[in-house]
Amino acid sequence: MTNVKVQSVAKSFGATPVLTDITTEFGEGSFTSLLGPSGSGKTTLLRIVAGFIRPDQGVVMIGKNDVTHIPVWGRNIGMMFQSYALFPHMTIAQNVAFGLERRGIRGDAARKEVERALEMVRLPGFGNRLPKQLSGGQQQRVALARAIVIKPSVLLLDEPLSALDRRLRQEMQVELLRIQRESGLTTIFVTHDQEEALTLSDNVAILDKGRIVQIGAPATVYEQPRTRFAAEFLGDSNFLAGTVEAGAVRLDNGAVVQTTSTLPVTGSKVTLAVRPEKMSTAPDTGTNRISARITTVIYAGAVLSYMLETVDGLALKLFAQNRDGQLLRQGETVTLSWSPEHTVALAD
Ligand SMILES: Nc1ncnc2c1ncn2[C@@H]1O[C@H](COP(=O)(O)OP(=O)(O)OP(=O)(O)O)[C@@H](O)[C@H]1O
Ligand SMILES: [Mg+2]
Repeated sequence: MTNVKVQSVAKSFGATPVLTDITTEFGEGSFTSLLGPSGSGKTTLLRIVAGFIRPDQGVVMIGKNDVTHIPVWGRNIGMMFQSYALFPHMTIAQNVAFGLERRGIRGDAARKEVERALEMVRLPGFGNRLPKQLSGGQQQRVALARAIVIKPSVLLLDEPLSALDRRLRQEMQVELLRIQRESGLTTIFVTHDQEEALTLSDNVAILDKGRIVQIGAPATVYEQPRTRFAAEFLGDSNFLAGTVEAGAVRLDNGAVVQTTSTLPVTGSKVTLAVRPEKMSTAPDTGTNRISARITTVIYAGAVLSYMLETVDGLALKLFAQNRDGQLLRQGETVTLSWSPEHTVALAD
């Protein structure tokens, strides 16, 4: 097991900065997801760790070794790319053996490793087939076998499950987590799917415009987003703007809201974030209150989403479990309540 450290890494393509001063550590055997909008630099960061791209500045450490100037083949990294294409004219076994061959492992030794890797991704006996004789999910598992067969010290996965339908994707998530736990591989995983990131990871890193804006355990990042961007990108949020006054926040509409977050000095402008599922129309939900009219009801199966608006035009969202069906009607004015613990003061 090996950790990965990235120190002050920066990269520009031409005049465009793509990564700016990235410093972070991926712990031994940990599973970290990189989340961020398209173009935020996720793939670039992964390719710098892998050695396909040389950073303009900064250092990449794998274990105790500075690998910044070591090429890809000297880093012992298993990688699955955003487009994971298998070689179509090679059998599954030949596809998986590809990385072994390049490392000089052939014959019986290679066959044994290939069979073990195929067992690990639950495809034993599939070695003689061609990729086109496999389903999409099975092909993706072959690509995973190809990445792990070389016994890498680090596994880098760039949206490996993006091509799969929901059901298959969930199955593969379970498999992936099992393989990662069994092998103890330090894994960095890029995904667009926030639920996937929250479910699989020890840590979630949120990237915005080439910077890591927040990194931490899923529950910490979700419950305590630092910035408006993090609160908006991971999950949904209500934003309440106001001014700090006597240890609380007076909203622009006059209501006073309590928070357990540390607040800046009296008179400062501050934005509070509250997750839509933390609010409720049950009056005992918390000491904070706001009245709003329901403008739209969205039925989403397990959850009902309500869009609301206050008299002064503030848009709010409320998520309610669909236990007793739709309890609130469009046009109705309700009082939402929530607790100070679920009221997070954002840094910016
Ligand atoms: N080889 C390159 N030459 C020039 N610009 C590049 C190159 N590779 C990436 N970029 C640019 O760098 C930025 C970050 O790209 P990157 O592929 O890291 O984004 P990403 O976060 O992986 O996005 P996505 O979610 O769409 O895969 C983008 O604006 C992209 O256009
Ligand atoms: Mg990408």
